[in-house]
Amino acid sequence: MKLTLNNAASFVPAQSLKHLAELTQAANELLENGKGAGNDFLGWVHLPSETTDKFLDEIEAEAKILREKAEIIVVAGIGGSYLGPRAAIEALSHTFGLNGNNPKVVFAGNNIGEDYLADLMELLEGKKFAIINISKSGTTTETALTFRLLKTMLEKQVGKAEAKDLIVAITDKAKGAARKTAEIEGYKTFVIPDNVGGRFSVLTPVGLLPIACAGFDIKAMIKAAQGMEKATGIDVPYEKNPAAQYAAMRNALYQFGKKTEILVNFNPKMHYFMEWWKQLYGESEGKDHKGIFPASVDFTTDLHSMGQWIQDGERTIFETVVSIEKSSKKVIFPHDEANLDGLNFLEGKRVDEVNKMAELGTQLAHVDGGVPNIHFSFEKVDEYNLGQYIYVFERACGISGYLLGVNPFNQPGVEAYKKNMFALLHKPGYEKESEEIYKRLKG
Ligand code: PA5
Repeated sequence: MKLTLNNAASFVPAQSLKHLAELTQAANELLENGKGAGNDFLGWVHLPSETTDKFLDEIEAEAKILREKAEIIVVAGIGGSYLGPRAAIEALSHTFGLNGNNPKVVFAGNNIGEDYLADLMELLEGKKFAIINISKSGTTTETALTFRLLKTMLEKQVGKAEAKDLIVAITDKAKGAARKTAEIEGYKTFVIPDNVGGRFSVLTPVGLLPIACAGFDIKAMIKAAQGMEKATGIDVPYEKNPAAQYAAMRNALYQFGKKTEILVNFNPKMHYFMEWWKQLYGESEGKDHKGIFPASVDFTTDLHSMGQWIQDGERTIFETVVSIEKSSKKVIFPHDEANLDGLNFLEGKRVDEVNKMAELGTQLAHVDGGVPNIHFSFEKVDEYNLGQYIYVFERACGISGYLLGVNPFNQPGVEAYKKNMFALLHKPGYEKESEEIYKRLKG
């Protein structure tokens, strides 16, 4: 992994960046010594080095059972209980689902779309399927609603006794509805540690079990994260610490009016990693009426939609590019006698070479247009590189949140919509809120 900052540094006074760079050490130490805000949610900091091979063997053993029993595995979860596994699985899988003998992994419980659920049930009808139900609280509406539908369907399809072996719960170690249901029904369970919040949980069973079920190497992922844990620790000087450097640079840009960070990829496989990153940074930093707004684009696709705004719109943005050095497969551009598209000058080149020139050309154009550019480059899309990517962004997020002066590990703001929804649906216990909300709606 390599981080390049010179196309961003030129947009901020060197003195301001230097000051923030100095502050990163103290912020990083707060993650280590647990003396900062939200310190009961720091379990992710040493999660990679504390994850044993024995534990990974246990996850792989359960994955093997599900892989043998099911042709489709439904992973139910939302937010931090969803985006991590989806990010990794989408990045590593065949784009069009040609995944050999691996079961198809699909995601649910992340929305309340009736058509989505109806389509899913249509897909599962008559198929051998398993469910991984991921919910720390066990009461998240989207996931609980989906789980009830799927459990009912599975039990009808194979009977209660067999269904119990096709359902795994990943949840709190002791409390919550998902834990209780698992105990009553006898499901295999894995624990989401108390001290790891949802958006930092991809390297717990939340991410590891689905990723292993999809046929990918979770040991390589953890090994890479362990390396990155070391490379971003408090004993690593700022100049060598990519998490500290990224955190300092984005905060410097924010202080000088760059209020939106756009994460950019040039490889469509990385789309869901951008989604994962958006939750990580948005939920961690967007509070107390502060915080960089995290956005994302898939290039070159979105150059044909958002490119104009980025090149020429309000100058309140910066870009962070997640560049992939090597594509995993090779496609050579062919000769065409008629050459009506005028593309024979590309003959014999790899498609990736064209993509790389689009990437470089875009970077130069956007920097010229006044958009600072932070540049991460990863060797390729594989488990090892994704493990590095996950940890460096998590660590930088913790440091960055402390630099900003917020508690990066809570999310009080996500409750507001739930309260209204429950009041509107007349959930027992919300009688007073129901009365108030309906009065308000009547005007
Ligand atoms: O980051 C978070 O805490 C949230 O995104 C949660 O992960 C999400 O709301 C799902 O919660 P739960 O795992 O309790 O169902």
